[in-house]
Amino acid sequence: MELRLKERLGRKFDDEIRFFKGWIDGPKRVGAICPTSSVTAKRMASVIDTASGLPVLELGPGTGIITKAILKHGISPENLVSIEYSTDFFQHLVRTYEGVNFINGDAFDLKRTLGALKDTTFDSVISAIPLLSFPMERRIALLEDLLDRIPAGRPVMQITYGPVSPIIAQPDRYRIKHYDFVVRNIPPAQLWTYSRG
Ligand SMILES: C[S@@+](CC[C@H](N)C(=O)[O-])C[C@H]1O[C@@H](n2cnc3c(N)ncnc32)[C@H](O)[C@@H]1O
Repeated sequence: MELRLKERLGRKFDDEIRFFKGWIDGPKRVGAICPTSSVTAKRMASVIDTASGLPVLELGPGTGIITKAILKHGISPENLVSIEYSTDFFQHLVRTYEGVNFINGDAFDLKRTLGALKDTTFDSVISAIPLLSFPMERRIALLEDLLDRIPAGRPVMQITYGPVSPIIAQPDRYRIKHYDFVVRNIPPAQLWTYSRG
């Protein structure tokens, strides 16, 4: 087998082991049984407008598959801010994706977690937070906090595994769009976007 292919498969396997360990330690916090597929990650990153020049906010990067897709989409590492709650995942991410602004903290406490970056306007938000593990009021509060940090019309992209939007509709406050259903993901993934204006 070609050496590069062997290395790639080895790395993929390492990510799966790391993910499984994270799942054992906190299944509700991790919220999925496998890392996101590269197909899904690419679809999620596709909503980012690289021409805006604004930084991107990522939530719940885990093993970093979506981080990698965001960088590949054309965002420079220093223009990516990524919040991960698990210290194990965080340490791995810092070692793997040099230059990205990883923050080891809670996405539900954005003002405190973002610290000096709390007044930043982001282009968009790419989120893999397991929303279904949290009460609906907290999901809505997080979404509204995120929408306050991006321009009107720009999306919060969210992955989930249930059949319906993980955040209830409130047409007077935000718009919900079903963006895609990705079969090449374990389990198959639903992508939703939320925006204002
Ligand atoms: C479904 S996993 C993400 C999988 C990731 N896309 C991958 O392929 O590895 C959800 C991630 O969200 C993180 N997470 C859960 N609650 C969080 C919170 N409140 N703030 C930040 N990250 C959180 C978990 O630690 C986990 O890494």
